[in-house]
Amino acid sequence: MKIVLAYSGGLDTTCIIPYLKEKYDAEVIAFCALLGVSEDEDVLKGRARKAGASGFYFLDLRQEFVKNFCFPALRTGAVYENGYLLATALARPLIAREMIRIASETGADAISHGCTGKGNDQVRFELAAASLMPSLKVIAPVREWDLNSREKEIDYLKEKGLTIEDKGAGKYSIDRNLWGISVECGELEDPWREPPLDSYITVSPPEKTPFEPEEVTIGFTSGDPVSVNGSKMEEVELVEELNSLGSLHGVGRIDMVENRVVGIKSREVYESPGATILFRALRVIETLVLERDLLKEKVKLSGEYARAVYDGKWFSPLRESIQSFADATRDRLSGEVRLKLHNSSVRVTGCRSDFSMYSEKLATYTEADEFSHEAAEGFIKLWGLPLRVWKEKEGK
Ligand code: ARG
Repeated sequence: MKIVLAYSGGLDTTCIIPYLKEKYDAEVIAFCALLGVSEDEDVLKGRARKAGASGFYFLDLRQEFVKNFCFPALRTGAVYENGYLLATALARPLIAREMIRIASETGADAISHGCTGKGNDQVRFELAAASLMPSLKVIAPVREWDLNSREKEIDYLKEKGLTIEDKGAGKYSIDRNLWGISVECGELEDPWREPPLDSYITVSPPEKTPFEPEEVTIGFTSGDPVSVNGSKMEEVELVEELNSLGSLHGVGRIDMVENRVVGIKSREVYESPGATILFRALRVIETLVLERDLLKEKVKLSGEYARAVYDGKWFSPLRESIQSFADATRDRLSGEVRLKLHNSSVRVTGCRSDFSMYSEKLATYTEADEFSHEAAEGFIKLWGLPLRVWKEKEGK
């Protein structure tokens, strides 16, 4: 048997290598995806080999991730349960797709991941596999073994004659990519407890942000951000730039209790400085250029889209259809938004677009006004007609 494993280099997935070899009599191919910051490729490769992997893949997926997963979600406006910009949820289908590609290329029979049975990530990996290659087997060792502590895992590796340098359990469980950082566990498990300072990963705590605000102008073309302060930037560079600007000013951190797919509520802290700035800016372009009924439907559908992504249904007809709906009018979403970052907040200070439906001649309260005031009278008569009739029938 041959198995492709999503390998992070951490203790769990390192244990999975000898486990799969032994239990499934398998050859293991370790696959690492670069989606933001990562350990050095050679270090990861060395560790995977030492643990017994017979193949190793390291792919820089940053551009693909931002361009074809994060920006499409941005264009729909998807936010899960009023706060989460879905950084982790967006990465999983891409990792799964690449694993499946490697599995087909190498003739593997199964893929494997290190997710627990309580989380969302197992659902995302496995639903992606169900959509893309239903015949592929998925193995989730953490759901089946009894290595339920770091000590047991370290002992298990020792038994196999492996000593792997252990950086120790972090205080939190952290998943990090270019779109955002998800922080959970440890002291955060008590929702009454204020997140400790050491749970701030890149975003400055409010108390430590600069005294002076900083202005930033984002340019959009067809719904995608293309420039910062007038300089054109590639996707990855642009997000990195906004991540560092936002982090400095304390922008994009959110602390929430959310509903997981498996039914439990969990307390999560997210840092998405760049994505937060981009979401705010694109929403402003939308209000300027989109016709009102369209905008209303778009906002409604964005909630469904967010749920689909969160629930592991990236590769689904629903997610793809809502994407098509949002993208049908994306060519209008071009323009610029100016914002001020200050003290953990983002404030919009200006916007413009060639497609703007805002008309000063119609909106003004000065003599230049061209709005038809006479027409308003008849309009209101008919607009309120059902309400008059309703009132007439009261008490009958
Ligand atoms: N609750 C978030 C989500 O479902 C974050 C999960 C973080 N994953 C992790 N391995 N720490 O997307």
